[in-house]
Amino acid sequence: MTDTPSDNLDFRKPTAEVGYLLNQLVAASPPLDPNSIYCNLLQCSHFADTAVAVFDGEQLVGFVSGYVEPNKPDTLFVWQVVIAEAARGKGLAKRMLKHLLGREACAEVRYIETTITPDNEASWALFRSLARDLDTELNSEVFFERNTHFGGEHDDEHLLVIGPFQTSRH
Ligand SMILES: CC(C)(COP(=O)(O)OP(=O)(O)OC[C@H]1O[C@@H](n2cnc3c(N)ncnc32)[C@H](O)[C@@H]1OP(=O)(O)O)[C@@H](O)C(=O)NCCC(=O)NCCS
Repeated sequence: MTDTPSDNLDFRKPTAEVGYLLNQLVAASPPLDPNSIYCNLLQCSHFADTAVAVFDGEQLVGFVSGYVEPNKPDTLFVWQVVIAEAARGKGLAKRMLKHLLGREACAEVRYIETTITPDNEASWALFRSLARDLDTELNSEVFFERNTHFGGEHDDEHLLVIGPFQTSRH
């Protein structure tokens, strides 16, 4: 799966120095749940192989965090996708997800999983579009429930499963 940039955006494997910038970008991007800076530092270090940071000059304009699920080596779990407001609607989030699928760390990956709240239309549209491009299925079910898992303080999170698919590595 190739990434064919038609701009000056720089797709990078993050380093810990990106963690604080990521924390600020997520905080400015509702409805995403903010994480602690410490959590963002781990995403940018321990989980860097399955994360991508996109810079426009000095500015962090996009980030996808994720990991290969500990008990499912064929499944990339996408934790959060965040695009700076000014960079949205240009296909960047989808490019970043495809970029990750081209990484060595995702060589065995045949499925993507993520969770989304029912009302996050942009996110549903992003993953439906990705499933179409990968020519595969998208299935969903409630995963974490408002009352059972969030003490009534957060919407249900639906698990989306996209796959199986092949990437250009296979
Ligand atoms: C969701 C988000 C990551 C999408 O980023 P993006 O770079 O604008 O998305 P893309 O341009 O790659 O769009 C991918 C697809 O989703 C669709 N889409 C994107 N935003 C949309 C919106 N607000 N409403 C409807 N569809 C939308 C696009 O039309 C495109 O579909 P297509 O390929 O069929 O044309 C971005 O809006 C964001 O950061 N939102 C705030 C944080 C968030 O909610 N993150 C997702 C939770 S993990």
